[in-house]
Amino acid sequence: MLLGRERELQAIDQALAAARLGKSSCLLVRGEPGIGKTALLEHAVSQAGAMRVLAARGVEFEADVPFAGLHDLLHPTLALLDRLPPIHASALRSSLGLGPRIESDRLIIGAAVLGLISSYAEEAPLLITVDDAQWLDRASAEAIGFAARRLFADPVAVLIAVREDEESPLLGAGLLELSLGGLDQASATALLETAAAGKVSVDLAQRMLGATRGNPLALLELGRDAPRASASLHDDLPVATSVERAYLRRADGLSSEARRVLLVMAASGTPDVGLVQRAAAALGLERSDVEQAEAARGLVIERVGSVEFVHPLARAAIYHSASPSDRRAAHRALAEVMTDAEDADRRAWHLSAAATGWDAEAAAALEGAARRARESTGYAAAASAWKESARLTEPSELRAARLFNAAESAWLG
Ligand SMILES: Nc1ncnc2c1ncn2[C@@H]1O[C@H](COP(=O)(O)OP(=O)(O)OP(=O)(O)O)[C@@H](O)[C@H]1O
Ligand SMILES: [Mg+2]
Repeated sequence: MLLGRERELQAIDQALAAARLGKSSCLLVRGEPGIGKTALLEHAVSQAGAMRVLAARGVEFEADVPFAGLHDLLHPTLALLDRLPPIHASALRSSLGLGPRIESDRLIIGAAVLGLISSYAEEAPLLITVDDAQWLDRASAEAIGFAARRLFADPVAVLIAVREDEESPLLGAGLLELSLGGLDQASATALLETAAAGKVSVDLAQRMLGATRGNPLALLELGRDAPRASASLHDDLPVATSVERAYLRRADGLSSEARRVLLVMAASGTPDVGLVQRAAAALGLERSDVEQAEAARGLVIERVGSVEFVHPLARAAIYHSASPSDRRAAHRALAEVMTDAEDADRRAWHLSAAATGWDAEAAAALEGAARRARESTGYAAAASAWKESARLTEPSELRAARLFNAAESAWLG
């Protein structure tokens, strides 16, 4: 059952209705991994009724096999090849490996694909779905884009799904786009509770909605662990989602040094380039490593003076994939270079994330943060800083006093 997405469902219903009336339309559904592109395509297929359906999908490791995608898509139509002008038919046969090899240009292949789709649609209205278009081989993507742009008075609805921030000739093809964002708050909460099989506290739901920005796949995966999760902002969410794995693959080509810089960015939690550069230097990393990290396409966006992760899950992916000792080193380096008085609170939390056991320095820094929060009536923040301070405190009397303060602040909040 799809939650939310009223606008998108309506656009799809209209495209199907138009196709049944003999008018074509094409929608490029784009969005981040796990946002619900395939789910929308599946919905369209479920609504197709008496329409015919042609479907293809890109396969990650087949992106270099020319015409693999087109072959999948057109397989059921091949009996109609003879209806095409001979030059089109033989060009397509050659490309799909069904006839002698001949040289032909992209326009001829595109026109042949268009002709074949139109012929196939003469017999019944047609729905075409192309999923994971970012992994289509380039030749197929170009031919499909060419045909999709030129369908007009044909009973055909074309739906193409492509991931955001990845390469595809279809992204620049001038097709009408349906850009998917996160689910609305009510739908996201409902999905979270379905996955958790019960109510989720308001704080935890808020936190998971923030971490996922309403991404349904990530909500489903985090939701399953909701009964065991902590709502505290300073605890890491427990599950690495498969959406994160999709982001992590974008770091594959980077050097290990650049990945360590990304880890510093992820640990810092701020887009402050200066801070990241200083912490990276403290870890012995070079300027060029920082530059490589800043240019990591599909993971971070660089702006003047700042670098931000493209999505909280991209940040989480980098953070989750690092070893605990590398994470601690990143936090320690950040704490070391945060010398401004106004950074004292954040510095305290970095020291705590860098700690391996009892740690008097981190505990004292957290006590400072707790006192400042308490003075400005930030009771919840004071309570978590006191609690963390106590956790790192060895002498039992001091630990008890700090725990008492944590309880008192929690009670006041
Ligand atoms: N609107 C929705 N309501 C409920 N569940 C949804 C919704 N959208 C997506 N889902 C579920 O979320 C999961 C991820 O969706 P989907 O596979 O469609 O994402 P995607 O955008 O195709 O991701 P990818 O880029 O990895 O292919 C699926 O289990 C899907 O059923
Ligand atoms: Mg998909």
